[in-house]
Amino acid sequence: MADDILPKWRQDFPLTSDGEDEVTRREFARYLVLASAGFAAGSVAVATWTSLRSINHGVPQQIVVASAVPEGTAFLFRYPTPLDPAIVVRLAGGELRAFSQQCTHLGCVVYWDRERAQMLCPCHDGAFDAHTGAVTSGPPQRPLGRIDVEVRADGMIWALGREVA
Ligand code: FES
Repeated sequence: MADDILPKWRQDFPLTSDGEDEVTRREFARYLVLASAGFAAGSVAVATWTSLRSINHGVPQQIVVASAVPEGTAFLFRYPTPLDPAIVVRLAGGELRAFSQQCTHLGCVVYWDRERAQMLCPCHDGAFDAHTGAVTSGPPQRPLGRIDVEVRADGMIWALGREVA
């Protein structure tokens, strides 16, 4: 092909390679769009799966008879496995809340402090809201793992599932 009929960019960059005409810019742009759409769909799927599995770890399990946990007291148990320390607290007003006892900072065991009405971690003075498990002070960055509980007709407190952090 004579230089006078080549496009200007080809005259400036006269290098060629085998198969350079097999993928046009339009096709390449189409691949980019499809790949981007695939990544976006994957991100949405992962986010959806993460939110749906927020409370689905563990199977229903009896904890203790509800009358054994009067207002302002706590009861220690293991959930969802015998290796997972957990605590259920009856707050002022009678509401029950249960959490993993594992501090979200470095894993020390938290305890119920009736005077402060909070969950406290003795290792670095971490403190958590006893209603929500949210961090109220100290170095932890994440809330305590929450355990759904209910009192059933048999008068027992049941753990229903643990939030997976
Ligand atoms: S391990 Fe609980 S505050 Fe550090």
